[in-house]
Parts: sequence; structure tokens; C-alpha cells
Amino acid sequence: MAHEADGLLEATAPVETFDVLIVGAGLAGLRAALAVDPALKTAVLSKVYPVRSHSVAAQGGINAAIDPQDRWEDHAFDTVKGSDYLADQDAVEFMCEDAPRVVYEMEHWGTLFSRRPDGRIAQRSFGGQGYPRACYAADKTGRALYQTLFEQSIHHRIRVFEEFFVLSLAVSRGRVAGVVALEIKSGRVVGLSAKAVIFATGGAGMLYARTTNPYINTGEGMAIAFRAGVPLKDMEFVQFHPTTLPGLNVLITEGARGEGAYLLNREGERFMARYAPKLMEVAPRDIVSRAIETEILEGRGFPGGYVLLDMRHLGEDLIRHRLSEIYDFSLTYKGINPVHEPVPVQPGQHYMMGGIATNRRAETRLPGFFAAGECAAVSVHGANRLGANSLLDTLVFGRQAGLGAAEWAKREGAVPFPVEALSAEAARIAAIKARPAGPGSEHYGSIRRELRQTMTDYVGTFRDGPRLAEARRRIEELRARYAGASLMDTGDLFNYDLLAFLETGYMLDLARVIVDGALAREESRGAHARTDFPARDDSRFLKHFLYTPDGADGLVREEEPVVITRYPPKERSY
Ligand code: FUM
Repeated sequence: MAHEADGLLEATAPVETFDVLIVGAGLAGLRAALAVDPALKTAVLSKVYPVRSHSVAAQGGINAAIDPQDRWEDHAFDTVKGSDYLADQDAVEFMCEDAPRVVYEMEHWGTLFSRRPDGRIAQRSFGGQGYPRACYAADKTGRALYQTLFEQSIHHRIRVFEEFFVLSLAVSRGRVAGVVALEIKSGRVVGLSAKAVIFATGGAGMLYARTTNPYINTGEGMAIAFRAGVPLKDMEFVQFHPTTLPGLNVLITEGARGEGAYLLNREGERFMARYAPKLMEVAPRDIVSRAIETEILEGRGFPGGYVLLDMRHLGEDLIRHRLSEIYDFSLTYKGINPVHEPVPVQPGQHYMMGGIATNRRAETRLPGFFAAGECAAVSVHGANRLGANSLLDTLVFGRQAGLGAAEWAKREGAVPFPVEALSAEAARIAAIKARPAGPGSEHYGSIRRELRQTMTDYVGTFRDGPRLAEARRRIEELRARYAGASLMDTGDLFNYDLLAFLETGYMLDLARVIVDGALAREESRGAHARTDFPARDDSRFLKHFLYTPDGADGLVREEEPVVITRYPPKERSY
């Protein structure tokens, strides 16, 4: 892998133009890079060293109808039903039909999938699926897939600018012209000029105090696109994974329930029988999360707010081999051996169904700008993503983005890089560092903490109008405080205080959009459960919400129809 050559970037203007520049080195970003014609000049820019991307944390599997008894059309139906009919069905069909090709491509590139006794790729049940179609590598599927793509990226000498933090999109003559970024090790503000830019910047779980996401998932990719006038779609749909370890909220894979583990309340009851009598613990995760929260709210949870996941009956061999990571996590973080004891679990934020609005070619409204993976909303997940569809999404639409961006770069010439974008960002950073810290000045850290708590307390699994309105009031107050906030470290080198300060600003933008969408959507659909509007209302809300800034510190909301092909909306029961 080639690294940044010093002298390549200058503070005053970019000296080199890329055909395709990809921001984000997770699965979607690397898959995009590998899809670009090698004759083109391509680079990947990442906030972290690539193997630290969040994709490596994905545990349970990747869906594909590879069994002769299964059909991609059934996978598509399950996905649409799981999405509570908000997914665009043309995009879902495209993804599910492509899924077997994706899995075999990864296998041929070297992914070590778990196997059946006859040598075929093993598959397990996952939430909301009518067939066991999640292909897996024990409970480290993301890591296995990532290792494969990382090896491929080295083999193909993909150039990576590692530890660069993107600040803004450079736009010129109505088209993307590159990005402005901060080189973390030096503090230099640099411009990278490109004919096409792909964002594969991941999710925004840090908006919540309880999340399975790592510290790097702060959503700046989405917020940067939004600030450049690119719509964000369906941001009110936030996924809560039912089973995370209380405290750290480390993921305990749905694969455990797919293998047969079950949930118990304080009375020792398998309570899912009340909420999803047919699918029980492998109902879609919006339903299982709400069921757990209901048990806790109605006093049948354990003090501290959790229920139990019991997998003892699966036996030591299965647990230690197919669920080895969660075996280790339970032991390491809770001192609980799941072979002998049930594991405490509670819901935690896990995924953003919403994101940068794209079509199935990963194009956005800004010419030359593409997005893929969790930061994008194609939309294949609609109001609720099915487990094991996100790894698939990253690989299908990462590739689409790479192909589309390459085609664009071959067809279109570069537009001049707007050097004023570079100087504006340099001035913004200098002004932030110049704010006096100390008595009378608030450190942004308290704002970030309060924001995360507000989102958890008021914009969680269950929502209602008054609480969302209170969230909005608090977020506006936090925005006002942020405008005058300061940081401790005003240096240049590896200034993570500055990074967290900047991230907090982007997080506030996203929180605002999420809450506005959640207030406007007066219905319950998928992961968006309004106790004051408990029914789905297709007559008013079978549509996407798209948000852009109005240019005067306000928000513009547009509505877009959902694409329906062959699955007319029905009531969802499991
Ligand atoms: O539970 C899990 O293993 C998570 C999978 C997913 O989010 O797709």
C-alpha cells in the first residue's frame, strides 16, 4: 500500500488531481477502490489506519440466497417487509440478486467462511428472514471480509492517505472538485482535487450514549454532504440492536439467537412469544428491541435495565467455535462464561438506516459525488435494516460507487479546485484554536456528552411528540453553547481534541435532522416507534424525507415517493 508522499499536498492549493478520491477505508470504501479502473488515478483517505475501520466489528453474517432451496426474490421480500415497506424495491432487488455473486467473489478472493460438513459455505438464521441465508465466518464475519479486501488493496497498490480527517467537500461550477482535509499528524489543512469523490464514511453511532459503534463513528461524512447541500434521507430511522452488553454496549451478535439462543425476562419467561409468536427471538431487530424495552419498562427486566440471553443449551463446542468472539466478550467484559450462565443484554444504538441520499448507482444529487455503505441511504433498508444486510450493502453499493465514479471521471474533465474552500477551512480551524479556554469558557466535551444523553433519553426506541420537542429544544441550546465553546489543546500535532471538537459540530447537525424528521413523521414504522402515533400510516407517510440546509440556519424538508415494484405494502406480522 502506498502511503502519502510528503510534499504532495500544500496548504495553499492541491498540486495533484485524482480521478477518483474515496473518503473512508471500511468495506464500502475499499470495495469502491477495487472497482475503479486501475488505469485511473485513485486514492483512499481515511480518518484512521484502514484496519481500524468499524467494518471489522461486524459479527454475524452476510445475507445471500446461495442455497438451491432459497431464492433472491425471497431475500428481497424479507428485506422489503423488514424495512416496513419504506425501502426502494428496485434497489432491494438489485442488491439481493447481486448477493450470491458478492459472496462467491469474496470467497474466491480468500474470505475464510465457516463451512458445512460437506464443504459448502455455512449459513445461519438471522432476524426477519424466512430462510437461513446469513453466510458467516464464526462471529467475526466483518473481520474476515475486511482482511480479504485489505489484502486486495495492498495487492492492487491502492494509495491510502491514512489519518486524514475530512473537513468539507470542495464544490466548483455545481460539481464536486475534491475535498478539504486535516492531516492529523501535522495539523495541516490540505486540499485534494478530484474529478469524482466517493464518501464511504460509515455511521454516526456516537450520537447516542449507548451504542455498539466505536468512537470514530461520528457521522461527519453525512454532515459534510448536508452542509454542501446534498440531501440526507430518512435520518429519523435509527436502529437499536437488541443484544448489547450493558455498560459498554459491545455487540452480542444476533447470530447467537440465529443459532438458537433465547431471551428470558426476570420471571424466567421466553417473553418473545408475546411479541412475535412465530419467529420469536429471530424476529426483526426493531421488534425484538422494543420487546426488551417493554419488558424492562413494565418491571420484568433486571435492575439496571437488562434481560438475559441464554445460550447454555447450545453447548460448549458450538459456543466456542461459532460464537467465539461473544464468548470472549462476555468473559472479558462481564466475567460471565456463556457456556454456564446467561448473558445480560440490553438494546443499544447500532446502525443508521438514513444517510446521504443516493440511487442504486450510488449517485447523489451533486454531480461527481457518490456515497456508499452506512453513510448512504439508497434506500435498501428503509425503516428497519435486517441483520446481515449491511455487509452486503457495503460490498454491493461500494462496487457500484467505484464503477460509477470511474465512469464519471473518464467522461468528465476536472473542474478547478476552489482554493477559497481551502482558505476558509484553514481560517475556521485557526479561529477555533484561538478561542480562549479556561474559566468562563465551556469545553465542547460537556456539549458532546449532553447531546449523546439527550438522543438516548429522548430519541430512542420509543418516541413521542413532547419528548421529541424537548430533544429539539435541548439540541438548539447545545448548538448555541457550541458556537462559543473551546478546546484545551491548541497545538498542531495529533490534535485529537480538535478532531473531537469538529466531530461534535457535525454530530449536532445530524441530531437536528434526526429529531426534525422524527417529529414530522407522525406514525410508527420500523425502528421509528411513536407512542402517540402507534400505527403505520401509509396514506401520509409512505415516503422518504429528504433534508437540506435552507441557507439561513434552518432546514428544508422534501418528500419523495417510495419505489414499489412487486411487493405491495401489507401489515407486518411475525
Ligand atoms: O448481530 C449482528 O451480528 C449484527 C449484524 C448486522 O448488524 O448486520
